[in-house]
Amino acid sequence: LLLLCGGGVAAVTWLLTSGGVDTVGKVAFDRPLKIPPLAESTVDANGTRVFDLTAEPGDSDLGHGRSTRTWGYNGAYLGPTLRAERGQKIKVNVHNRLNEPTTVHWHGMHLPAKVDGGPHHPIPVGGDYQAAWTVDQPAATLWYHPHPSDLTERQVYRGLAGMFIVQDREQDDEQDDLPHEYGVDDIPVIVQDKNFDGGQLSMSDRFLSDIGILGDEILVNGTPAPFLDVRTSLVRLRLLNASTARVYDFTMSDGRPMQLIGTDGGLLSAPYPTETVRLSVGERAEVVVAMRPGERVELRSAPTGLGRFQGGRDAFDVLQLRAKPNQLGAQPNQLKVPQHLADIERLDPSQAAQRRTFTFQGREINDDRMDMDRVDAVVVKDTVEVWSVANGHDTPHSFHIHDVQFQVLSVDGAAPQPELGGWKDTLFLEPGKRYEIIARFADYADPTTAYMFHCHVLRHEDEGMMGQFVVVEKAGDKPKLGHN
Ligand code: C2O
Ligand code: CU
Repeated sequence: LLLLCGGGVAAVTWLLTSGGVDTVGKVAFDRPLKIPPLAESTVDANGTRVFDLTAEPGDSDLGHGRSTRTWGYNGAYLGPTLRAERGQKIKVNVHNRLNEPTTVHWHGMHLPAKVDGGPHHPIPVGGDYQAAWTVDQPAATLWYHPHPSDLTERQVYRGLAGMFIVQDREQDDEQDDLPHEYGVDDIPVIVQDKNFDGGQLSMSDRFLSDIGILGDEILVNGTPAPFLDVRTSLVRLRLLNASTARVYDFTMSDGRPMQLIGTDGGLLSAPYPTETVRLSVGERAEVVVAMRPGERVELRSAPTGLGRFQGGRDAFDVLQLRAKPNQLGAQPNQLKVPQHLADIERLDPSQAAQRRTFTFQGREINDDRMDMDRVDAVVVKDTVEVWSVANGHDTPHSFHIHDVQFQVLSVDGAAPQPELGGWKDTLFLEPGKRYEIIARFADYADPTTAYMFHCHVLRHEDEGMMGQFVVVEKAGDKPKLGHN
């Protein structure tokens, strides 16, 4: 076993402290990490930035000596990184060149329900779809993925997902002091677990864990066994859990702290040094890692303690960071993460226009599965609401709400941990726990079109663990769903 431990002392320490987990220290880290290209765009006569995304099949080398069938946007696996400025009008032309219907949902984006890309608006085989909106939210790491009825798990698993980075000029001062050069010191890290059978990507639910497909191999940006050459003393990792079910507890192999600088909806008010970052499906975290010249250190996922809900393996090598021996930046200002990152307006629960309670249990939310003709919550535009969300049984779930970013007020009645101190759109629901969140439903009212909230474990979502909310202009207005 020692011979297999490329990481040397760190790997040995890991094995000792983690009780001899069999999965770490075995990855060769022999492939350069692929960086999804920034999506090309044009600016039309109205000043709208226009992107094109084609969902299409392809063939990928995912590390088993031959290629396997995968799906991607504008390529064989995953999609390009979209990037847009706050205030920018954007339009995305989506083309479906798959053999089944799909949609594209802009996860974390504040936008009108009509262009949200939920299951109400399927793009037929061979069809096209346009989504246009104005980006209006703080700088953040968002993502996009399919959201059709019943097919979301398999479509994401086959490779349909991509990152969407929002930039905000008003935050330029903070951003300038953070690593911000895409693909150089500001790195997308899209983490997914996969199964292979005879070298082919396998969809089998072989762990029968009640949570859908769990894989025993890790891809980062579609790269198996990846390493990243780091040329700066600080590197920013935009971690995205784009798996279908798995939870990761990200750590560095030598236990060094990461500076957590951002969560789903943007930067924290101040960096939070931590050794572990837990991400359930759909969640993002931005961390900054400090590197010394010449060293190698691995990003790993440590055992989560979630037992059978993690399948046969619950600890993984993820990504090796290799610092160049001499190119590390000598500029001292690059060695520190700024202590002030963002001004976050705290939403005030005493201002709540409405309080609601949702219990996640089995495949139901408050004992109901998704019904496209039922509205579960009617929300008045520009009001603040407090939602109490509980996981009522022993299966992990992940709460996600469209359109808004929320703040966590409490976890089982206590103040939330610092990593839940910023904007969130997805929240891990630990078995048995209750979470209070607060959000403002600003700007967009449309009685004819529903937004979703749901479990982001994709099998659960496909099986109907979703509800709908409609935002209306003023109190007393009634929704009039118009999708049929
Ligand atoms: Cu990331 Cu409703 O989804
Ligand atoms: Cu669930």
